[in-house]
Amino acid sequence: MVQPRLKSKTLTSALATFFLFFLLLWRCVLSDNELVDYEAAYLKKLRKAIFPAPSNWFTATNMCDWSRVICTDGVNGRTVVDINLSSMSLNGTLPSGLNNALLNLKTLDLGNNSLTGPLPSFAGLSLLQELHLELNNFTSVPHGCFQGLKSLQQFSFTSNTNLEPWTFPADLTDSIELRILDLGATNLAGSLPDTFDSFPDLQILELSDNNLTGLLPKSLAKLLKLRSLYLNDQKLSGKIEFLSSMTQLKYVWLQGNAFEGPIPDLSNCTNLAELYLDNNRLTGAVPPSLINLSYLEEVFLANNSLQGPMPAFNKNVDTIILEGNGFCLKHPGPCDYRVTTLLQVAEAFGYPFQLARTWRGNDPCDRWSFITCDIQGKIRTVNLTNLNLTGTISPAFGNLSDLRELHLSGNNLSGSIPESLTTLSQLKILDVSNNNLSGIIPTFSSSITLNTTNNHGLVDRSSPPKASPPHPSTPPPSPTNRARLTASRTTPLWIKLGAGAAGSVVGIIVIFGVIVFNRKKPLGLVQKIVLRRKRKHVDHYVENLIKSYSSLSLKRYTYKEVKKMTKLFSEKLGEGGYGIVYKASLADGQQVAVKILKESKGSVEEFIDEVFIISRTSHMNIVSLLGFCYEKNKRALVYEFMHNDSLNKFTYKKESSNGLYNLDWNTLYQISIGIARGLEYLHRGCNTKILHLDIKPQNILLDEHFHPKIADFGLAKICKKDQSIVSILGTRGTSGYIAPEVFSRTYGGVSHKSDVYSYGMLILEIIGGRHNYYESKESHTSELCFPDWIYKDLEKGNVPTRCLLDKEEENGMVMKMTLVSLWCIQPNPLDRPSMGKVIDMLEGSLESIPYPPKPVLFSPERLVSQYSDISYSNEHETSSTTTEEIDLEKGLM
Ligand SMILES: *[C@@H]1O[C@H](CO)[C@@H](O)[C@H](O)[C@H]1NC(C)=O
Ligand SMILES: *[C@@H]1O[C@H](CO)[C@@H](O)[C@H](O)[C@H]1NC(C)=O
Ligand SMILES: *[C@@H]1O[C@H](CO)[C@@H](O)[C@H](O)[C@H]1NC(C)=O
Ligand SMILES: *[C@@H]1O[C@H](CO)[C@@H](O)[C@H](O)[C@H]1NC(C)=O
Ligand SMILES: *[C@@H]1O[C@H](CO)[C@@H](O)[C@H](O)[C@H]1NC(C)=O
Ligand SMILES: *[C@@H]1O[C@H](CO)[C@@H](O)[C@H](O)[C@H]1NC(C)=O
Ligand SMILES: *[C@@H]1O[C@H](CO)[C@@H](O)[C@H](O)[C@H]1NC(C)=O
Ligand SMILES: *[C@@H]1O[C@H](CO)[C@@H](O)[C@H](O)[C@H]1NC(C)=O
Ligand SMILES: *[C@@H]1O[C@H](CO)[C@@H](O)[C@H](O)[C@H]1NC(C)=O
Repeated sequence: MVQPRLKSKTLTSALATFFLFFLLLWRCVLSDNELVDYEAAYLKKLRKAIFPAPSNWFTATNMCDWSRVICTDGVNGRTVVDINLSSMSLNGTLPSGLNNALLNLKTLDLGNNSLTGPLPSFAGLSLLQELHLELNNFTSVPHGCFQGLKSLQQFSFTSNTNLEPWTFPADLTDSIELRILDLGATNLAGSLPDTFDSFPDLQILELSDNNLTGLLPKSLAKLLKLRSLYLNDQKLSGKIEFLSSMTQLKYVWLQGNAFEGPIPDLSNCTNLAELYLDNNRLTGAVPPSLINLSYLEEVFLANNSLQGPMPAFNKNVDTIILEGNGFCLKHPGPCDYRVTTLLQVAEAFGYPFQLARTWRGNDPCDRWSFITCDIQGKIRTVNLTNLNLTGTISPAFGNLSDLRELHLSGNNLSGSIPESLTTLSQLKILDVSNNNLSGIIPTFSSSITLNTTNNHGLVDRSSPPKASPPHPSTPPPSPTNRARLTASRTTPLWIKLGAGAAGSVVGIIVIFGVIVFNRKKPLGLVQKIVLRRKRKHVDHYVENLIKSYSSLSLKRYTYKEVKKMTKLFSEKLGEGGYGIVYKASLADGQQVAVKILKESKGSVEEFIDEVFIISRTSHMNIVSLLGFCYEKNKRALVYEFMHNDSLNKFTYKKESSNGLYNLDWNTLYQISIGIARGLEYLHRGCNTKILHLDIKPQNILLDEHFHPKIADFGLAKICKKDQSIVSILGTRGTSGYIAPEVFSRTYGGVSHKSDVYSYGMLILEIIGGRHNYYESKESHTSELCFPDWIYKDLEKGNVPTRCLLDKEEENGMVMKMTLVSLWCIQPNPLDRPSMGKVIDMLEGSLESIPYPPKPVLFSPERLVSQYSDISYSNEHETSSTTTEEIDLEKGLM
């Protein structure tokens, strides 16, 4: 039984092989082209239609040898599967008939050319997987031209700006394997169709820079595998809650639309890296969970109507959030309780835009619509009559204890009247007429005029109970109301249903998708376009911020220019806690010093703000800022160049021909007064006080006349992070300048008096350095001992005995410097003089300076170890400490 069957099978296959061989032979003999006629014909048409076609298309007779064309064996011989003519500067128009000819096409890449005219139809190319038409000049898209593209995984059409307006191609719904869809800047108009459930595997959706309008379709929420969503810069509207269920999201660009409602809770989108929501109509408080996302890199929220506390993002997140919003404060921190209360009220209404427009800042009595206060700032009337409000009446109204009138008439409010309203002892009028309220009316004092007319669900407690009375404390809202009530907290039902239905399909496709998609590729054309757009977006903000300071002439340099003027960072001048300083020269030959900041992330607004604060300071004892550089991950400051380097060079270097000991006492005295004047100027500040917090010899530069100039000021604020402290600790020689309160809470808060302390230590060092004090000491000995030594000398004979001075006048200067600096280093900040007082003392008579108490010196070693214990054992504690310090700093300014 088995044998004959085997035999016949062998015979059949032998015959088949022979036949195939014959066929092949016949084809080779009869044709110089392996392709079927219609494929060959189309390629010839294509060769004629595009300029310049690859040159070997005119020489190679076998079309499968044409460059950028790939064939494989097909049923009828060889067949074209791949054409890649990307980035060839081609012009011309694609011939029609493509979809009737290249039936086995898998990849067509025509990206980055100048092709024009209408697209040919691709309908029915069921094997086509990748279609790249981006960066061209096509003019129109025929109807139905993407029908039946069953295998399509990637379609890139981005940047065809000359297309006549068209609508989102409904015929793409056959492409259920689609993973990447790029239709950005293709002049799409109208609203998006509700067909996104056709693309359960979609990972990248790029529709930005079009003319799309209207609400986002509900099916968009079913794209649970979406990683990148670019919908920016058009006229889309509606709410964006659907984001919270898209847990794979990494890049979300929704800026420049008309989206409204609060920012959804994105705590399940754990991969989120970029969130651009700026320039919309978003309202409400920023969800605190947002700042805890660990992979965040950039968050732009500017120009919405966001309210409540300003979010405190991590310092490694680039942010633009303040501008154009209504946060209660311009820095993180809790809001006034009245603001918090009214925002809870607004939350129960779904944060309507009409309230958010004026409910900004930290004072509800400052022109907030619908709120009337008395002269003492007590909220007396809230009148929200006829505003078409939906949602519920918040129990938080009960916290407005001064309220006399509450008008909520003529809205669409549901739910019950909160019990808490009965606690408002001053309430005279409560009008909730003409709403949709239900439940039992709480018992109010008889002195209140209560109007509950026209709320069909409200039940008077005194009236006999109906057949099934609603529970007093939780009146059952109608189904629609319930949905509205819970919408902000739980996933809407339709998302859940969609997720379930799509899940099974997704599962199958995922496996395939992962295999194909995990190939590591260099940046594709589309990614390059996206990157370019992103730079433009950030630049736009930076330019606008700069414009807002237009009265100042501060130049912004590109990083490219910085590289050029520093000759590729060839001459290093020094290195500080904030970055490395290089010598550079501007185009006009002027020498400058460029500091490349180590900290290149954080709030963009804050950085620009600080830069302009610095640039505004102009004083002969302060180094001038000439310009800055801001680019993504690149921040630099350009300062005037100082010829004589820093004080540091003069204090330590014995070999140096112009060491401090070669400067006469008068020069040193003048330097001391100069530094004091510069610091006093910073502390005085016209608009903003600046704390330096890093006064040390390295930061005192000397010009050619040995006039001191303070450098690096304000950076304590720019690089607010704990970095300034940590870096100082890292540099062994400078820890002695830090005031005890900078290390430890027990000494009080950080203030301008911390600079006074550092100044005192610096002057003592000048005195000590003049006497080669260090020469006689072991290098590891703490320099903190030397004030001790000076004090001992003072006690012995009024003038430090090692100061063997010739002149009486010089003795006076040294004594003044010594006494003043000993005052400056008092451990209690309150005992230290202000910088203004320091100048007075230095310039006044020696006799008028009181004798300082002996400073009780703190042990830096103990404090250092204490500090590092904190920073290594509990990072959380360190960062909260830092925030506290910053607040203190702000409070002092
Ligand atoms: C197309 O490109 C060729 C050169 O490649 C040029 O000579 C010709 O003018 C271009 N045609 C158009 C319409 O731009
Ligand atoms: C087409 O070729 C270019 C290089 O010439 C390559 O970068 C690109 O990835 C190719 N396109 C496709 C779809 O493989
Ligand atoms: C587009 O093609 C040109 C050459 O025709 C090339 O120089 C350019 O880099 C390409 N653009 C991108 C974004 O790859
Ligand atoms: C695109 O085509 C239009 C005409 O349709 C032409 O005026 C324009 O110069 C073309 N642009 C490019 C970049 O080829
Ligand atoms: C967007 O559409 C409007 C009409 O709906 C039109 O006036 C406007 O020019 C379009 N904008 C762009 C950039 O196409
Ligand atoms: C996050 O996911 C958990 C578990 O799936 C779910 O219970 C929770 O409601 C989700 N949170 C949001 C804001 O969607
Ligand atoms: C409340 O506001 C409405 C609409 O602005 C106004 O007509 C009404 O007079 C106001 N009521 C009171 C008591 O101020
Ligand atoms: C009130 O809101 C509903 C739905 O939100 C809307 O259809 C209606 O036009 C609004 N009425 C007014 C007067 O704003
Ligand atoms: C109660 O409100 C309704 C509707 O706003 C109004 O017509 C009526 O005059 C009010 N009643 C009283 C007693 O103020």
